[in-house]
Amino acid sequence: MRKKVIAGNWKMNYNLHQSINFIESLKSEILKKERNCDIIICPNYIALSEAYRIIVNTPIKLGAQNIYFEENGAFTGETSADMVKSAGCEYVILGHSERRTIFNESDEIINLKIKQALKHRLKPIFCVGETLDEREKNLTKSVVKYQIENGLKKINYDDILNIIIAYEPVWAIGTGKNATPEQAEEVHYFIRDLIKEKYSSDISDKIIIQYGGSVKPENSRDLLSQENIDGALVGGACLKVDTFIQIIESC
Ligand code: PGA
Repeated sequence: MRKKVIAGNWKMNYNLHQSINFIESLKSEILKKERNCDIIICPNYIALSEAYRIIVNTPIKLGAQNIYFEENGAFTGETSADMVKSAGCEYVILGHSERRTIFNESDEIINLKIKQALKHRLKPIFCVGETLDEREKNLTKSVVKYQIENGLKKINYDDILNIIIAYEPVWAIGTGKNATPEQAEEVHYFIRDLIKEKYSSDISDKIIIQYGGSVKPENSRDLLSQENIDGALVGGACLKVDTFIQIIESC
């Protein structure tokens, strides 16, 4: 049985003080009872070490929203795997569609970042997904296959289970329009099959595949009850404690 993983991608929201207040109230809600899923929050870089101080020794885990693929050096404005690791991160979101489109990140760059994260024992949450145009042209599976093959190039057996895959159809991100549970399940099944082909059936049984794209309390139960959907990567609805908690409860 795969344990569900709910991750909150805060994107570029909340300053340091707002982040601290938010995490304090999330923590007090989380500690009220035992949960049967893993919970990850991914605030901005500025808030990471304070976030870690608040959540240490709780079930909440910490993730960064990005890293650079080089070790260190003259890369003004960038943040390394070692830096986010030293701030307390266990996870890092890589390949998010906003990084792919707004910041022109290619599959090759994403692959370098995944390798760099793994080298520092950070677990990548590796995002893939098609645009609306690609879905309408019936290209969903070939796009996702290309992203998986190239993003996971030269990632070996020992490392693959340290990666979470997040299927995030671009047309569902921040639009309020989620994939139906059936649409999502079809792609999740397809991804699991790709992992089986590339690695093994044991690995494909174990790998966590999250769904992301307009997950909210109204749709999380149906999405999470699909056989191959092992959790959610939540954007907008993770910015309020009550909606994030409701999604966690739907596991
Ligand atoms: P959304 O974002 O839940 O606001 O659609 C999801 C994501 O971008 O990871």
